[in-house]
Amino acid sequence: MKRAVITGIEASIPDYVLTNAELETMVDTSDQWIRERTGIVERHILKQDGLGVSEMGADAVRKLLSATGTKADDIDMVVCHTVSPDMLFPATANVISDKVGIKNAWGFDMGAGCSGFLFSFSTVDAFIRAGRAKKIVLVCGERLSGMTDYTDRNTCPLFGDAAVAMLVEGSDDPTIGLVDYENHVDGIGRHYLYQKAGGSMYPPTAETVARREHYIYQDGKTVFKYAVSNMADVSAAMMERHSLQPDDIAWLIPHQANLRIIAATGHRMGLDDSKVLVNIEKFGNTGGTSIPLALWDFKDRFKRGDNLILSAFGAGFTWGAMYYKWGI
Ligand SMILES: CC(C)(COP(=O)(O)OP(=O)(O)OC[C@H]1O[C@@H](n2cnc3c(N)ncnc32)[C@H](O)[C@@H]1OP(=O)(O)O)[C@@H](O)C(=O)NCCC(=O)NCCS
Repeated sequence: MKRAVITGIEASIPDYVLTNAELETMVDTSDQWIRERTGIVERHILKQDGLGVSEMGADAVRKLLSATGTKADDIDMVVCHTVSPDMLFPATANVISDKVGIKNAWGFDMGAGCSGFLFSFSTVDAFIRAGRAKKIVLVCGERLSGMTDYTDRNTCPLFGDAAVAMLVEGSDDPTIGLVDYENHVDGIGRHYLYQKAGGSMYPPTAETVARREHYIYQDGKTVFKYAVSNMADVSAAMMERHSLQPDDIAWLIPHQANLRIIAATGHRMGLDDSKVLVNIEKFGNTGGTSIPLALWDFKDRFKRGDNLILSAFGAGFTWGAMYYKWGI
C-alpha cells in the first residue's frame, strides 16, 4: 500500500520582525523573561490590513509548484490547516486554490490547534492510501497576530505568523514516508485555550469586542502541565510501539511552543539535545504551522530515509506523535 511522502516543501514568512525589544515598549515584560520562560527572541508578523492566511499560503504554493515543476492542473486536492482562516467561510483552501490557479482539485480546511500538521498530514495520508488522490497540496498557515491581544503580556510574546506548503504524493518505497501516527483529543482543553467570541456560541457584538473576547485566551500554567506530560508520553509511546531506541532516531521535530516543553519531550525519549530541532527563537509559536516550518528550515540536514519523530500538543486539547521517514 502506498504511503504519503512529502516530495516538496516551501515556506512564506512575512518580512516584519517583532522583537522582544519592541514588545518591551508595548507591555510590562522583558527580553530576559521571554527568553528564559519561552525561548522566543523574535517572531514574524503579517502586518498589512486586508491580508490573511491565503496571502502567505498562496505565496508558498506558487513557490512549491515552481520548485517541484508541478502543473496546477495536476493537483487533485488542496487541504489547508489553520485556526486563523481568511474568513469563517468559504474555506481558505478554496481561496488559495483560486489565487494560484488550481482548478481541478477539491479540498477543505481543518482546525486542530497546534497539532494541526499531525492531524492534517495523517488525514491526507488516508486519501493517498485509499488511492483517492495522487498529488495533494497541504498548506499549514497561521496569522495568529490577528487574534493576539498586544495589551496582554501573558500571550502577546508567544505567537507568530507563517505558512508552509507541501506536495504530498504516494510511494511504495518502504524506506520513506509516513510509517505511523497516534493522535488524541480531550475536550477538557476548551476551558484553558480558546478564542471565545466570533463563532455561533458568542457571535460578534460591540460587547464581545469591548470585552476583548476575540483574542486568544490561554491559562498558560494549566496548558503547560498538560503539554509537558502528554507530548512526552505520546512520543515515548511511538518509540516503544516500533521498538525504536534513541540511536534509531535521526531527529525529533517538536511543536515549537515553549523550549521547556521541547526539552522535557527530548529527555523523556532519551535523545541527545543535538537531535532535537529548535527554531522557536526565530519564529515563536506559529501553531499547527510550526512542525512543517521546522521541516522546511532544517531540511538540508535530513537524509532520505532518516527516521523522524514529530510531536505536538495544542488547543482542544489535541496532541500526537508521528513516525516519518524523510523522503526527499
Ligand atoms: C505561557 C507560558 C510561557 C508562561 O510561563 P510560566 O512560567 O508558566 O509563567 P506563569 O504564567 O506561571 O507566570 C509567572 C509570572 O510571570 C508573569 N508573566 C507572565 N507573562 C509575562 C511576561 N510576558 N513578562 C513578564 N512577566 C510575565 C506572570 O504574571 C506571573 O507573575 P506572578 O507570579 O506575579 O503572578 C507557559 O505557561 C507556557 O508556555 N504554557 C504552555 C504554552 C503551550 O504549550 N501552548 C500549547 C499550544 S499553543
